[in-house]
Amino acid sequence: MTTTEEIKKGLAGVVVDYTAVSKVNPETNSLLYRGYPVQDLAASKSFEEVALLLWTGELPTQSELTEFTAFERANRALDPRVKAAIDLLPTDCHPMDVGRTAVSVIGANHPEAENSSPEAELLKAKELFAAFPAVVAYDQRRRRGLDVVAPREDLDYSSNFLWMTFGEEAAPEVVDAFRVSMVLYAEHSFNASTFTARVITSTLSDLHSAVTGAIGALKGPLHGGANEAVMHTFTEIGINKDESREDAAKRAKAWMEEALAAKKKVMGFGHRVYKHGDSRVPTMKAALDRMIEHYGRHEMLGLYDGLEAAMDEAKSIKPNLDYPAGPTYHLMGFDTEMFTPIFIAARITGWTSHIFEQRAANALIRPLSAYNGSEQRAL
Ligand code: COA
Repeated sequence: MTTTEEIKKGLAGVVVDYTAVSKVNPETNSLLYRGYPVQDLAASKSFEEVALLLWTGELPTQSELTEFTAFERANRALDPRVKAAIDLLPTDCHPMDVGRTAVSVIGANHPEAENSSPEAELLKAKELFAAFPAVVAYDQRRRRGLDVVAPREDLDYSSNFLWMTFGEEAAPEVVDAFRVSMVLYAEHSFNASTFTARVITSTLSDLHSAVTGAIGALKGPLHGGANEAVMHTFTEIGINKDESREDAAKRAKAWMEEALAAKKKVMGFGHRVYKHGDSRVPTMKAALDRMIEHYGRHEMLGLYDGLEAAMDEAKSIKPNLDYPAGPTYHLMGFDTEMFTPIFIAARITGWTSHIFEQRAANALIRPLSAYNGSEQRAL
């Protein structure tokens, strides 16, 4: 292999394996989790049900759901060993570093860390699903000088997540928008972080190592970090609660025109697979609209519309899921840097489903490279 024509930079267009977890269809802008359209799941299913669907391939029966709900509620508290490790990290480090460290500590303390049987892996995935929200919630609170809020067993996953973060019960509309975001962020085939998890699993490493590596991949702004970057764009343009929607849109449009003239890449737009629009955006945008109404923040819609319209006019590039998700989390009260750790909490479901699948039909992932360094030479 010596010619560059044979090289698929970024593995673009390369099909590396089968998956039965989700199907992304860029032609029809559709996304199926185990065969079900994601917008239908987001309309009517809890995140707990979607997690079970991704892991097992089927929606749970009522008794399976009841059992899992009880398990999840019983495994939510922040492990003191994890809290102690978080407390060693500076409050100005990136929260993704905290998430990555927390998963590593959870793995190191797990009595079945090296047991990769399907039963042990499913149990570890369920435990991580239940445990991770407390990591995000505590990290958000300690950055504000606040202490841990204990979980509440009477609340579902989404409302408890918000409870542990803010120490007050969120309004039902807010809980629902949060749930929708979790369902939409749960899974997306062979994206960079999922592929990372599969590469690590392919070496027969353990589940927590695979998830830890996946978090590293998710942190980057070309992947999960884009939801934070969207909010930085909004902040750079300037958020002014008293501004009219129209004025905000005008300023956003001007900002985008300038950014594109300077050949900047604007985060929250474009996608490696979807070229005519991200299947998840309409559902997340509807959730954002509900939050804008709930909080009475129409100037945010102005910023959103202004950027989108200017990008569409100039380059016909459509928003991806991170574009409506960023402002949604902002309105809920999360600091911008916490957005991607929330994405971890959601994607733990997809990653672990892919870890099971990789392990069940494993082949070491080890591609080739074309050498373009100097020819052999004498010392
Ligand atoms: N802003 C400005 N231009 C963009 C763009 C964006 N967000 N996304 C793509 N483009 C342009 C590229 O500059 C390129 O233009 P060119 O052909 O004139 O060089 C063209 O569109 C193709 O983009 P490319 O980066 O090659 O596509 P890709 O499939 O490799 O990249 C992303 C996909 C997601 C990495 C890319 O769209 C991006 O960087 N988006 C911003 C980050 C983001 O939101 N990531 C979250 C993804 S869910």
